[in-house]
Amino acid sequence: MSKKIRVGVIFGGKSGEHEVSVQSAKSVMASLDKEKYTVVPIGIDKAGRWQVGPQALSLMPPEDQGFFSASQSASLDDTVQEHTAVDAQPETNTAVSQMISTSQPAVGHSTAVPPQLAGELDVIIPVLHGSFGEDGTIQGLLELLDVPYVGAGVLASAVGLDKVVMKTVFAAQGLPQVGFSAYTRRDLKNDTDGVVSDVERKIGYPCFVKPANLGSSVGISKARDRTELQRALEVAAKYDRKIIVEQGLNVREIEIAVLGNEEPRVSVPGEIIPSNEFYDYKAKYISGESALMIPANLPQQQVDEIRALAVKVFQAIDCSGLARVDFFVEKGTGKVLVNEINTMPGFTKYSMYPKLWDASGLPYDKLIDALIQLALERHAEKQQIQTNFDLDD
Ligand SMILES: Nc1ncnc2c1ncn2[C@@H]1O[C@H](COP(=O)(O)OP(=O)(O)O)[C@@H](O)[C@H]1O
Ligand SMILES: [Mg+2]
Repeated sequence: MSKKIRVGVIFGGKSGEHEVSVQSAKSVMASLDKEKYTVVPIGIDKAGRWQVGPQALSLMPPEDQGFFSASQSASLDDTVQEHTAVDAQPETNTAVSQMISTSQPAVGHSTAVPPQLAGELDVIIPVLHGSFGEDGTIQGLLELLDVPYVGAGVLASAVGLDKVVMKTVFAAQGLPQVGFSAYTRRDLKNDTDGVVSDVERKIGYPCFVKPANLGSSVGISKARDRTELQRALEVAAKYDRKIIVEQGLNVREIEIAVLGNEEPRVSVPGEIIPSNEFYDYKAKYISGESALMIPANLPQQQVDEIRALAVKVFQAIDCSGLARVDFFVEKGTGKVLVNEINTMPGFTKYSMYPKLWDASGLPYDKLIDALIQLALERHAEKQQIQTNFDLDD
């Protein structure tokens, strides 16, 4: 039998999207083919502490821990044997001092991954959303450890998570999007009235006010007048030092899945029908009533336009592996506008990204195989980069 591929699945994280990540990771770990892969769970708690091996499952809700070990005890037992050897301490923070020669960082800002783990794993799937996960930080750590990993690299992750930089890049590429304007917390503190009148002049009402660096609709509000705008700016400033304000349009929300490195493939498009006025946090995760329509009911010419734009968006930020690209189609005019790119989209079996692929003929387990393959290919490609400077070139 050929050797199994050892896959580390990183989940949780110091992010507002911790719980979503846990759910995504649960689906991924349960679907990895145990004939082909040895699964090593790697959990990060909300304080930023890492747990490697079976003890990482303690970060899952109790009902999920039971589900996981019942269905996967064999591979987890392998993992225990394999990793108790390298990972003697359940609290792994001390290991960072061996990885980088600095003193041990304070708990809470720890990026401590056991150094032995890099050599022990063939590939890592960072199933993390939002800050410290989807923003290039974990990707930077994995680059330093020189271990192949699934998904976007440092640059694409960081650009994709910062709505202001992302939209500035899209604008430079001539991609169609809603009008926007950006402010800092400091602008607000120094001159709230100035910010308000700038928004009124450039954007108008209704507008959407968002923290630049969060996902899951956290801190986002729709403002219809000056009072609502003031309040919305205050709320957004609680979550980030950068704030983006956009024209609020009456839209359909279309999402599409992209998969690949240099020559990405695109899925069929899907549509979100939010249960609330817009696709806010409640509509996403609490009410459970938002509907997904796959494929979206759109004229062929619009489908073609969206598919072509999705590839351009993916390439605009130099993305690799996977991304979900979200669009608005303006009601009335039918105009297609790019909303955002998500470099680590929700990944439970019921999430849009895997469902779009399923509807396009690529089931969940095959999708994970493809992502692992893409990670290995990208890593191999990087190995070909010459790192010493040749004077004759
Ligand atoms: N400019 C806009 N016009 C209309 N609706 C918007 C606009 N921006 C955001 N929304 C609504 O808010 C939701 C969340 O905004 P989005 O920018 O996608 O943030 P997140 O990264 O948190 O998903 C969207 O899915 C949509 O329902
Ligand atoms: Mg969104």
